[in-house]
Amino acid sequence: MRAASLCVASGKGGVGKSFLSASIAAYCASRGRTLLIDADLGMGNAHILQGVKPQASLVDFIEREHTIGDIRTPCGEGLDLLAGGSGIPHMAVLQREDRARLSDQLAELEVSYKFLLLDSAAGISSQTMSFAAAADRLLLVLTPDVTSMTDAYGFLKVHNQVRPAGEALFVINRAKDEEQAHKTADKFREVSERFLGVQPRWLGFLPEDPAVGASVNRGTPLLLDDPSAPAGRALTGIAGQLFSELECLSPRGLGRSLQSVGGGQPLSPSVVRET
Ligand SMILES: Nc1ncnc2c1ncn2[C@@H]1O[C@H](COP(=O)(O)OP(=O)(O)OP(=O)(O)O)[C@@H](O)[C@H]1O
Ligand SMILES: [Mg+2]
Repeated sequence: MRAASLCVASGKGGVGKSFLSASIAAYCASRGRTLLIDADLGMGNAHILQGVKPQASLVDFIEREHTIGDIRTPCGEGLDLLAGGSGIPHMAVLQREDRARLSDQLAELEVSYKFLLLDSAAGISSQTMSFAAAADRLLLVLTPDVTSMTDAYGFLKVHNQVRPAGEALFVINRAKDEEQAHKTADKFREVSERFLGVQPRWLGFLPEDPAVGASVNRGTPLLLDDPSAPAGRALTGIAGQLFSELECLSPRGLGRSLQSVGGGQPLSPSVVRET
C-alpha cells in the first residue's frame, strides 16, 4: 500500500502554505492516518502551527542519530509530523546519499499512512522542485499580489519541465473579496495556458481573515480552532476537494518517486515518469 501525497508549494514565500497545510493535514487525519512532512528543511515551522514541540526532527535523521520512524512527532488523533528543524542552513541542500536515505526510508514508512502532506519551502531550489515533482499532486498557493502570481508562474514553469504530465491545482489566499480572487485566478490560468500550455485547476480562494493569524498564534490549525470563520469555511471546502482528489488517485509512492528525481542533483526535464 502506498500513501497518496500532496505537496503544498509556492514561488513566493509567506503566502500561507504552512497555515493551509496544517489544516488540510488535520482534515485528512480525521479520515485516514496522515503524515505531515515539513519539507522546509532547516527552516521549518509546521510544528508551531500544530502546537507541538518535537523531540527530534529531520535534522536528527540526516545526522544519522535516528531512523525516520523515530523522529515522528504525534500531533493528535491520526496525525504525525516529520519536523523540518529550524536554523540549520545545510539542510536546504541535502547531499546525494542523505537524499537517497530519506527516500528509501520514506518508501518504507509511507505504507503505514493513507495520506502524506508536504509543507514545502518557497522558491524553486532543486530540492523543493524534487519534492513537488515526487508528490502525486501539487497545490500551488498564491495571493493576489502580482509578485506572488509571477513567482507561482515561475514555479509552474519549472515544475512543468520536470513533470510535464503532472496536474497542478491552485488556491488564491488572502483575497480582499470574491471579485479579486476570480480576477487573480483567471489571470493565472490565462498566462499558464498561453505560455506553458498547461491548465492549473483552481480550487477556490480564502479571504484575508484575522482568524488565521489568531489560530497560528494559538498553535491550532484553523479548521479545528475556528472552522466557522470566513477563512475556516473556505478552507473546509478546499480541504474537502483535496481529500476527494487524494482518495481517488492511484498513489505512485512518494519515497519511490523521490528516488527518481535527481538525488539532490540539478533536475533534468521530464525525469519523473507517470506510472
Ligand atoms: N487568509 C489569511 N488571512 C490573514 N492572514 C493570513 C492568511 N493566510 C496566511 N496568513 C498569515 O500569513 C503568515 C504566513 O503564513 P504561512 O507561514 O502559512 O506562509 P508560508 O507560505 O508557509 O511561508 P514560508 O514561505 O515562509 O514557509 C501567517 O502568519 C498567517 O497568519
Ligand atoms: Mg511555511
